[in-house]
Amino acid sequence: MNKPALEIPVLDIPVHPETMDGRDPSLLRGDRVSGDRYYSREFMQKEWDHMWTKIWHVAGRLVDLQEPGDFVVHDFMNQSVMCVKQEDGSIRAFYNVCQHRALRLVDQSSSVNEFHCPYHGWVWGLDGALKSVHDPENFSQGNPCGKLTLKELRCDTWGGFVWYSFSDDSPGLMEYLHPMPEVYKNYPMDTAVRIFARKIRLNTNWKFASVNFSESYHTRTAHPQVPPWIDQDYWSARSEIWPNGHGRTVQPMRPSLRDRLPEGEPHPFDDILRQWDIDPDSYASFEEKAIKGWMDLKEAKRRLWKERGYVHYEHMNDEELTDSPHTVFFPNVTISFLPDNLIFFRTEPDPKDPTKCTFDLWCMAFPVEGQKEAHGIMTRDFYPVVECEEETVDFDGGRGVPEIIDAIVWQDMMLAEAQQNGWESMGFDDYYLADQEARVRYFHETLNDYLEGRKGGPAA
Ligand code: FES
Ligand SMILES: [Fe+2]
Repeated sequence: MNKPALEIPVLDIPVHPETMDGRDPSLLRGDRVSGDRYYSREFMQKEWDHMWTKIWHVAGRLVDLQEPGDFVVHDFMNQSVMCVKQEDGSIRAFYNVCQHRALRLVDQSSSVNEFHCPYHGWVWGLDGALKSVHDPENFSQGNPCGKLTLKELRCDTWGGFVWYSFSDDSPGLMEYLHPMPEVYKNYPMDTAVRIFARKIRLNTNWKFASVNFSESYHTRTAHPQVPPWIDQDYWSARSEIWPNGHGRTVQPMRPSLRDRLPEGEPHPFDDILRQWDIDPDSYASFEEKAIKGWMDLKEAKRRLWKERGYVHYEHMNDEELTDSPHTVFFPNVTISFLPDNLIFFRTEPDPKDPTKCTFDLWCMAFPVEGQKEAHGIMTRDFYPVVECEEETVDFDGGRGVPEIIDAIVWQDMMLAEAQQNGWESMGFDDYYLADQEARVRYFHETLNDYLEGRKGGPAA
């Protein structure tokens, strides 16, 4: 089917001045994407040397760092980092390693008054200073207290997350994220509550997710449940990229016109309309319901948000009220910004094996007055709107995470494990991409920019 002749309203949404068209292949160099990027240990080492040690990592959620002494531990490759709430309210990041004889200080996120090393009992303050040791007079080179501190890393916050970097001189967090904090200034991100969280061990390279989340060309095939409520036609969406490698697809949350459900089958969009007092039967045709209903929904939300307690709508624009900007923060964090939810997806490499990774799936919901439960969106069920702990599980061919079976992200994971083998095939040379997949190559080109020293260098 070609583009419909129907007139579709275009929203007057300001676009950030540095935005480039993510569907324009002429913006690409055309770097070849060979399969070894997905399985070679040499490539994995290059990623560590030139990319992972330069970028910013999400250590955890700000909500877990309320009181002095609260800390989150983040293990990445062979490193372990802890971000610690200080007495003055700031947050500092330290390598999770005792400066005496290298014992790991803490195993998991928790809260302490000071860090006691379990080996010889050295005591470290929240600020990383060494406070006491046994037999301080027995060090002929001098008492280590007042001398030694835990080794510190750069730490900053954005979006309700605490971030750190292994690099002392690469660009700061705001420069690295630019212009995402501006693009998403209307979302009160730090109010979102994490209602479902799993760290899932997958048999695939970490990059599958960043690439997969950079295009919607696969969705009609892989996720047949999506087109009835999020328009999957590429001509309806905006695909955007920015110089730092971040990119997003903004799709209207309305039925795709070419994915009409069989007559008589309940339509998910009808429920969305009814939720805002719009009668789905008041439209003369399916097309009118999809397009006019989508505009009516914006109007209804704008009129009713306050009395219904949707306080997170206060600053949202007409696009954000109903639509779905799905955003890849280079290299490995994706956030789906939905009107009532944030879904955080993050893959991280296995420390030893490039054909394995972990996938963090955090389903978050904006609290709505009077709503005790919210749908996880990537889950089958509803969950209480209270902060939850993250559990680590094996994907186990799809059986290990029963809560997400048949959900969008589960379908992606099934495909990712199946694709891993294909990367090693001698029958594969390079991608052959549709224009709407241009961001796929843009991702790899940004990665090459890091590996070849064009990005990640000292801040200007
Ligand atoms: S290794 Fe920590 S006190 Fe010895
Ligand atoms: Fe997908």
